[in-house]
Amino acid sequence: MRTTAELREGFLTFFESKGHKRHPSGSLVPPEWDHSTLLNSAGMQPLMPYFAGRETPPAPLLTTVQKVFRTPDIDEVGLDSFHLTFFEMLGNFSFGEYFKEGAIDFAWEFVFDHMRIDPDKFWVTVFGGDVELGLGEDEEAVRLWEAKGLPPERIVRLDRSHNFWSVGGPGPCGPDTELFYDRGEEVGCLRPECAPGCECERFLEFWNLVFMEYELHEDGTVTPLPKQNVDTGLGLERGAAVLQDVISVYETDGYQAIMDWIAAESGVAFGESEKATKAHRILADHGRGMTFLVGDGVVPSNEGRGYVLRRIIRRAVQQARTIGLDDLWRMTDGVAEQMGHWYPELVEHGERI
Ligand code: SER
Repeated sequence: MRTTAELREGFLTFFESKGHKRHPSGSLVPPEWDHSTLLNSAGMQPLMPYFAGRETPPAPLLTTVQKVFRTPDIDEVGLDSFHLTFFEMLGNFSFGEYFKEGAIDFAWEFVFDHMRIDPDKFWVTVFGGDVELGLGEDEEAVRLWEAKGLPPERIVRLDRSHNFWSVGGPGPCGPDTELFYDRGEEVGCLRPECAPGCECERFLEFWNLVFMEYELHEDGTVTPLPKQNVDTGLGLERGAAVLQDVISVYETDGYQAIMDWIAAESGVAFGESEKATKAHRILADHGRGMTFLVGDGVVPSNEGRGYVLRRIIRRAVQQARTIGLDDLWRMTDGVAEQMGHWYPELVEHGERI
């Protein structure tokens, strides 16, 4: 397993072999009932009614590759090698079947037997507890990782802001454990205390396992959900960077076509200057994002999700000017050509895009 396509298909096939049903990606535009975000921001989001126990899932175990767009990260894109607004998230989901042990067992097997990650570069974080939530440290997760043979010093306990997940407000939530890849001291801050959770680029989080057993209420309290569930999210692009041992998601095979196009059309190479690096990153991310947003029916406007689209188009145009690139709409053809096999809506709505 090495390419982005192999990781995408390999993940889904692996979880099918473990009894999960392959389920299609939902739209980037959340359904009417979902007021949590403007755009779908997680693999679990279209599945929320199943977690909340309001609807019966098509199967008790599902696996998906879900289109995701994270508006809070718009301004982060361009500044580092791994933030994206639009990306694909691989996930395995259990509605009341397996819980912490199953999720960690599956992740361990996939990471070491299929992704073949170097064990010396593998770290995890776990929930360290939170007084306000009235929850203690996730001792069970610690015990399960240790039982797998992970050295205790590579299990880092972090607070609620890092290791407790909800979709951004009230709804299904729970403590999580995140999987990290150590990209080496040389890309880090070199501080002795540097570890997963550090702001520098050394430790890359690539997979989040959420133990979704609570519901978060408006008043900030949590109550147990009817069942103990699992929601995981493995960022496809970050996973590919790990597989291909490159520092930047923009250097993975999935970005090659769009990055080559930007360089060829502008005559400015990626990495030629700080300005060029930023421009290429923003164009590649926003180029994909704008294509997918229009593919899902969003039109540029002054409010709501239309404004998100307008904002990324404007940011892309501004960056394109800095490297002398015009007629950005031409980027969308390449995106549709490369990804239309997985996302036929890009082909179907090609004219509108
Ligand atoms: N919901 C979690 C996330 O988006 C895991 O899928 O990170």
